[in-house]
Amino acid sequence: MYILGIESSCDETSAAVLCMEEDRRKILSNMVASQIETHRLYGGVVPEIASRAHIEAITGITSEALKTAGVTLSDIGAVAVTAAPGLIGALLVGVNFAKSLAYANGIPLVPVNHIKAHVAAAYLSDPQLKPPFLAVVVSGGHTSLFEVCSYTEFKEIGATRDDAAGEAFDKIGRVIGLPYPGGAALDKLAYEGDPHAIKLPSPALGKETLDFSFSGLKTAALNYINTCRQSGTEVPRADLAASYTHAIVEGVAAKTAQALSERRYKTVVLAGGVAANSHLRRRLEEIAIAGGARLSVPPIALCGDNGAMVAAAGYFAYCAGQRAGTDLNASAEDHPVWEQ
Ligand code: KG4
Ligand code: ZN
Repeated sequence: MYILGIESSCDETSAAVLCMEEDRRKILSNMVASQIETHRLYGGVVPEIASRAHIEAITGITSEALKTAGVTLSDIGAVAVTAAPGLIGALLVGVNFAKSLAYANGIPLVPVNHIKAHVAAAYLSDPQLKPPFLAVVVSGGHTSLFEVCSYTEFKEIGATRDDAAGEAFDKIGRVIGLPYPGGAALDKLAYEGDPHAIKLPSPALGKETLDFSFSGLKTAALNYINTCRQSGTEVPRADLAASYTHAIVEGVAAKTAQALSERRYKTVVLAGGVAANSHLRRRLEEIAIAGGARLSVPPIALCGDNGAMVAAAGYFAYCAGQRAGTDLNASAEDHPVWEQ
């Protein structure tokens, strides 16, 4: 079947068409309109500007996705839309657009959880992938470990208690003058520095839990930067990028290794925007192999927010019988009512 996926939870408006069958998963189009340049002026996402930009982009990007895929709405078997979590105003644009499109054309509507969509990106790049497996989701808003029990059921076994890895990257990137979002720029800069030059606390909490906390790490890095500035010394940006990246990567690696030793998964999926980080990709591969598992990580184009991952998650939700009506509402929360 052909499935249209629509994503608008943060600063990317995206629409994609997939052709999905039991033994075939093909991306026919995956159009992304990024607002990064607009938000860069402010050093972060401005929710009101994001909502307005989604409104301007959504109709055009959807037409483009259909055209590139070579299909029309009459070919589409289901419309999948990110309905939670994310910025509420941004989500509402996608949800209301998808509802209207589905209702007006008599197409089933499927609500999608953005976090599950990040994980579903791996089904597109790795046709062999089947649940159960361990999913490590690292994005701008989330850092969590999930036991993926089936295509639609996830059990959260670890999560951040405060900030997310992506947020932590972006914050320090901004403070040392890198363009927003700082994650990708820090990834590059880290190659020029010494990962052991600056001692920073790990975001991995104690052995009794699989949880994380990034606030201590962020504060330690900020204190380090302030101390340098107060004493008139230049911040060693490359060493800081390398040490900070090392702390985040090793923290995520430690909890992944712990989950593997406690529960023995055969596959680890790394997903979310921060899964584009080259240091993290390499380290988790080592951790997975050492833990008797293999790592499955989508290509970089499928790590950031995109409609194809939404359509993939939507396909499996559709197969599980999940549908939404015109009363579907967007939710900023991780666990919206329609999932309970
Ligand atoms: O998943 P995503 O596109 O949006 C959310 O759902 O939050 O993730 C965006 C995050 C941003 O914080 C961005 O800095 C980070 O992913 N990111 C990276 C890299 N590329 C994107 N972080 C570290 N290294 C990268 N190469
Ligand atoms: Zn995301």
